[in-house]
Amino acid sequence: MKLCVIGTGYVGLVGSAVFADWGNEVIGVDNNPSKIKMIESGKMPIYEPGLEELVSKNLQNGNLKFTTSLKDGIKNADVIFICVGTPMSDDGSADLKYIYQVAEEIASNLLEAGKIIAIKSTVPVGTNRKVREYIKERADVDFYSASVPEFLREGSSIEDMNKTDRTVIGSESEEALDKLSSLFSHLDSPIVKCDLESAELIKYASNSFLATKISFINEISQICDLTGADVSKVSQGMGLDSRIGPKFLNASIGYGGSCFPKDVKALFKTSKDLGYSFKILDSVMEVNSDQKFFFLDKIKKVYGDSLNGKVIGCLGLAFKNDTDDIRESVAIEVVKLLRGMGAQIKAYDPQAMDSTKETIGIDGIEYVSSMEDALKDINFLTILTEWPIFRSLTQEQLSNIKDRNIFDGRNLLSPSQVRGWGLNYYCIGKK
Ligand code: UGA
Repeated sequence: MKLCVIGTGYVGLVGSAVFADWGNEVIGVDNNPSKIKMIESGKMPIYEPGLEELVSKNLQNGNLKFTTSLKDGIKNADVIFICVGTPMSDDGSADLKYIYQVAEEIASNLLEAGKIIAIKSTVPVGTNRKVREYIKERADVDFYSASVPEFLREGSSIEDMNKTDRTVIGSESEEALDKLSSLFSHLDSPIVKCDLESAELIKYASNSFLATKISFINEISQICDLTGADVSKVSQGMGLDSRIGPKFLNASIGYGGSCFPKDVKALFKTSKDLGYSFKILDSVMEVNSDQKFFFLDKIKKVYGDSLNGKVIGCLGLAFKNDTDDIRESVAIEVVKLLRGMGAQIKAYDPQAMDSTKETIGIDGIEYVSSMEDALKDINFLTILTEWPIFRSLTQEQLSNIKDRNIFDGRNLLSPSQVRGWGLNYYCIGKK
């Protein structure tokens, strides 16, 4: 199939590479010429495992091309995927300006009837229908509309697309539903065909439900601290119930990233605008913003409110492992709070050092080049992102922490082992 993918962020770039790898003819479009040049030269604007190789392979075999011209991109395409960002506005709703910019450009360049215009970006319920009307008013030819939400996770997006649990396709046209289904039919997972609004809501409901699961286990972690129970055991015991499932039950300092915070807020705002107060989501957001203070209180219990003169090793800055993305990263929020308490920080992250430096600067923070360097001459250690490499910390590596205190915000280490090494270990929801 001939596809045009507009936008080269996570969804667009990964989407175009994977679609091309499935044997389709794909043109990726972005209005940023230096980004397109960079991608064409084989360098990726984001860190995503396996992406560079996949893009190179498909550029070489000719399945994948890039352009800055939307007109050229959509000219021969059967399906046009809109994959531009929908960032959070000040009032918590999704900002749709990029969607409408692209819609306007598509409308004025749509010359042939019968193309499918599918929105993959996360957009509030009702957007697909409005965008359809917007293009219809401006275009001279007929087209089909579809909502095809994306469920990939940063850090494992290629695998997520190839092994998706389901594909969701919303459209009012049987022809569009059938054509889009054939694009995904080789995948070994169900395809949910539905109306536009249901497809849009499935995306928000899924992300909000996963965020709810995390906030739920984070509240359980607080009860664990109060009762002496172990949150990892509670998660394990709960997760073995197939109705609950084991995933997204890891207690932490809270969820972050470009999706959960934005999408939970947007669904809450949509509901409010419709006259319904989404009570659970209000609590999910409150629990999430409190959870980092629950972690910080553990530090305060040992050191008090001032960290003047203390040097802290901080492992992890990205919002999760296997990404350089620091958008809404709780790790960064914790680093800023510790700095605000007067501490000097030695920060290390395998991928997110440059973006962090650009965002929160160098005041009070030394960006060190290895995990080992973050452990040198420090009073205590904090673990803030769930990078697997931090799980492998050894007795020797931890032996020089002056105050012998470790605060693990991701429950990566084994309490009994670390305590066996003569260190004080504080984590989330475990004795
Ligand atoms: C999320 C969804 O998982 C994807 O399905 C969705 O497609 C994507 O948003 C999106 O809307 O584009 P992502 O934001 O990449 O993916 O990351 P997740 O793996 O979901 O993690 C989100 C946050 O939750 C991270 O800060 C992570 O550390 C935290 N988390 C995750 C926990 O605190 N505990 C857990 O058990 C799992």
